[in-house]
Amino acid sequence: MKNVTVVGSLAIDNIISTGVIPNSGETVFGTSFDTAFGGKGANQTVALGRLGARPFMVGAVGNDSNGKAIIENLKKNQINLDFVGTVPQATGTAHIILYDDDNRIIVVPSANNEVTLDNLKDDFWSLLKDSELVILQNEIPQVTNEAIINYCYEHHVNVLLNPAPARKISEELIEKITYLTPNEHELSILFPHLTREAALAKYPQKLVVTLGSKGVYFHDGKHEILVPAFKVKPTDTTGAGDTFNGAFAYAILKHLDLKNAIKFGNLAASISVQGFGAQGGMPTLEKMKESEFYEKTWHFE
Ligand code: RIB
Ligand code: NA
Repeated sequence: MKNVTVVGSLAIDNIISTGVIPNSGETVFGTSFDTAFGGKGANQTVALGRLGARPFMVGAVGNDSNGKAIIENLKKNQINLDFVGTVPQATGTAHIILYDDDNRIIVVPSANNEVTLDNLKDDFWSLLKDSELVILQNEIPQVTNEAIINYCYEHHVNVLLNPAPARKISEELIEKITYLTPNEHELSILFPHLTREAALAKYPQKLVVTLGSKGVYFHDGKHEILVPAFKVKPTDTTGAGDTFNGAFAYAILKHLDLKNAIKFGNLAASISVQGFGAQGGMPTLEKMKESEFYEKTWHFE
């Protein structure tokens, strides 16, 4: 199998649980503080690694204890680190407030902003060329993503862009992307003048819209299709989208059709939200197979 490569962010998540959100000028008490591994790029790579895909991660950490801990964690998840660089800036952090069964996140990219065309190694481009799928998110500079999308298009390499956090890109680039996986908010930023229905119909087999506990929409060229989410009681929904993207990509690489790949992604996400932290509950393939919702028709050998 050719490589699967994720170019994206790595971070340490600082997680606060609280029953109250402070107003301006106000101080309140929270209930707990934890740290966990995060960054949308690293999360999606770990989702792939747990399933056994042996992915490549491309990104940057700082020369600090957070960076070292992140590297160790990636190694444990069977991720190739040849293209994870160390830069003088601090390792990226995300600051997450868990409140009312939901999360609010502030990302401070730091080292992730150094994933620039100048900093990427020369052999990075041949890594892309040897990849069956390249996965991107929006936590590294836009210019880098754009150059990668153009390069992959020219070299017939499939690209999955998870446009999170929301950021606009040109229609010309959208044409060059194989899979685009926004949530509803990101969809409204990408296509401010289109309804969800119209956007789905415009990009059949490409646009995959995630709606959290409701499920995932795509268009097969004839009809709009909702692939429902699996109902579970979540512990922590942080990273559910990342698990979905990683597992969806895994299933695509194993040649499942779009609908089954989405269903596989949904199942992985439903398992992951039952563990704490973005990467906490991400399943292995063995764990997936234990689920009563695992489909006998999914062959991955
Ligand atoms: O998608 C969840 C991730 O978003 C968190 O792990 C956090 O790092 C932010 O980037
Ligand atoms: Na989780």
